[in-house]
Amino acid sequence: MLPNHPNLAMRRAVEGDLDRIYEIWRARPGAGSNDRASDGRFHRDGFKEGVLLSSPFGFWVAQVGGRVVGWSSLTPTRFNPALRETMAEAGAYVDPAHRGSGLGFEILQFACHSAHGSPLEWILGYVAASNAAILAVSRRIGFELVGDIPAHVKGPRPQVLLLRYRVP
Ligand SMILES: CC(C)(COP(=O)(O)OP(=O)(O)OC[C@H]1O[C@@H](n2cnc3c(N)ncnc32)[C@H](O)[C@@H]1OP(=O)(O)O)[C@@H](O)C(=O)NCCC(=O)NCCS
Repeated sequence: MLPNHPNLAMRRAVEGDLDRIYEIWRARPGAGSNDRASDGRFHRDGFKEGVLLSSPFGFWVAQVGGRVVGWSSLTPTRFNPALRETMAEAGAYVDPAHRGSGLGFEILQFACHSAHGSPLEWILGYVAASNAAILAVSRRIGFELVGDIPAHVKGPRPQVLLLRYRVP
């Protein structure tokens, strides 16, 4: 339960949440029908890895009234075993019907705060430059802009901004 959203409960994701995690991810803006995102099995397998191997960080689902309405995650970004625990990538996704009421902020903040006091040093965010909502939420939480990854290098991609959050 979170103080600003008494009806919101966060718990660790389990394999049984995969369909709902995938469904919410598919509902993001810009999800094309002609890219690999349309290959449900391919991506469900990808999330399975994220959910089941999210150690040492975490993968959580957000529930309102017992229904999963969003999820957030911290997933590894480094292969080097000496650095693996120091950096993670953040993800936050909210069911379209529940957006705009503060849930995105709560679930991303929950993920970031869960790392406080751990060996994790940085949380990175790769965010489409056009994604005003996640940019607003990230800034409020304390992410700062590091740089950008230009669009159209090897194909039509959105411009991506790289953000970082210093884990205390
Ligand atoms: C990004 C996302 C998680 C935010 O969740 P949410 O529950 O809608 O977020 P909140 O209600 O907590 O906050 C939304 C913020 O964006 C702002 N916002 C929303 N749309 C905006 C727009 N078009 N222009 C400017 N600001 C906008 C709101 O004003 C609010 O700002 P505030 O925190 O300063 O008040 C949700 O929109 C989502 O799931 N999007 C699709 C998935 C995605 O893009 N995830 C990010 C990739 S990791």
